[in-house]
Amino acid sequence: MSLTESQLLEAARDAAKLAYCPYSKFHVGAALIADGVLFSGCNVENASYGLTICAERVATFSALAAGKKRIEAIAVTCPDAALDAPMDYLMPCGACRQVLFEFGGPDLIVIVDRVGTMRLSELLPHAFKLL
Ligand code: THU
Repeated sequence: MSLTESQLLEAARDAAKLAYCPYSKFHVGAALIADGVLFSGCNVENASYGLTICAERVATFSALAAGKKRIEAIAVTCPDAALDAPMDYLMPCGACRQVLFEFGGPDLIVIVDRVGTMRLSELLPHAFKLL
């Protein structure tokens, strides 16, 4: 399957609608391509706040749990961010960047809604590695 950037963004926007975010009220959606297959995720919060998981990691772990090994591209959207919000409101968090690095490497394509398309290496230079 070869999806365009706008198709990936559309899938991320659909995923954001499923977010469980009663605490922050901040919906986030992610959609990625892994070995040519589309996976999506939304943020899932918890009353014990630290147990919350971000949309990007839900999408990534879904792909891994389905047997996929590599992520090629991911789109992320934060539809609740105000139109004049700083770009920082729209970017993947640091923890997700490190997880994405594990399965996508520095050349992973990251499409951030309302910001643009970049490589993961731009978002996470000098990622931690053990191998
Ligand atoms: N969130 C994500 O889903 N992805 C990110 O990269 C940043 C933050 C979620 C976590 C929480 O549910 C809400 O956004 C507010 O932090």
